[in-house]
Amino acid sequence: MSSVQIAANVVKNLEREDYMLLKVFASGLKHHETLTRHQLVDYSRLHGDVVDYRLKGLQEMNLINKNTRGFTILNAGLDAFALKILAEKNIISGIGKPIGVGKESDVYEAVTDRQEERAVKFFRIGRISFREATKKRSFALKEQNNIHHWLLVNISAAKKEVDMLQRLKDTGISIPLALYRAMHCIAMNRINGVRLVNVKELEHPTIVLQNILLSIGIAYKNHIIHSDLSEYNILVGENPRDTWIIDWPQAVSTDHPNAQHLLKRDVSNIVRFFNRRFAAGKIVGDALKEVLNST
Ligand SMILES: Nc1ncnc2c1ncn2[C@@H]1O[C@H](COP(=O)(O)OP(=O)(O)OP(=O)(O)O)[C@@H](O)[C@H]1O
Ligand SMILES: [Mg+2]
Repeated sequence: MSSVQIAANVVKNLEREDYMLLKVFASGLKHHETLTRHQLVDYSRLHGDVVDYRLKGLQEMNLINKNTRGFTILNAGLDAFALKILAEKNIISGIGKPIGVGKESDVYEAVTDRQEERAVKFFRIGRISFREATKKRSFALKEQNNIHHWLLVNISAAKKEVDMLQRLKDTGISIPLALYRAMHCIAMNRINGVRLVNVKELEHPTIVLQNILLSIGIAYKNHIIHSDLSEYNILVGENPRDTWIIDWPQAVSTDHPNAQHLLKRDVSNIVRFFNRRFAAGKIVGDALKEVLNST
């Protein structure tokens, strides 16, 4: 079971005091890797006995961990806390099946209380290196350092992606609409499209390609370069004009020292894919000029 599924199952059973403690862990992440029992009592303003009882429960649910120096929050703990925030703010009312399990995130379908569809992206950067670290059974301390480090990395990646999505929101390019960020999770509108990599045939490949190049140009005009563009980060709908560019956390500003290289790589990945799969016959240099000239 993934940590999101663990979290979704336990969210129903968690009580107010559990969230008060998870909140203390989440708010303290930036400054504390481990919290002592004393700190938890102090910051939560709960009675010591209540804290002991709740910590035991949270440990049994695998939301937190105990080590020689105190207590730490685990991935599923942060997931549960984020899900609770999303539910409390009425952003979503339930989480469903995974839509996409990528290298760096898990994306799940979700619904609102009015049955509107949403997508929730949980950042999981470091998952792979973390697995390797646990496999080697290195020192418990090292493992925890690892978890704590990656939780912060994931929160900051989610912030960065939301920031990029906000900056591109009113530019006319098709991207997911970020509805809310809770810690390392982003709730977005759910796009009704399939990944370009899974599309075997297109009726109008040239229109789709032009549309993508136009979007890259608009982002560039707004000083943003995606930097991880490929057939995996584009969703296409029924209409050839419906193409969405997703997955923006690694986007850079056009004054980045490598900006021109990154832009060229993005354009080249897309053009080569269209040439390979749909025999679009496009020259990368021409496509790049079109992107730059659309500014
Ligand atoms: N708003 C959305 N609506 C519908 N599906 C989405 C949405 N956002 C993401 N997805 C799906 O989830 C998958 C992973 O999302 P995303 O590319 O943002 O994360 P990732 O971890 O970088 O994935 P990968 O490593 O595969 O590139 C996408 O390929 C897509 O299928
Ligand atoms: Mg992706």
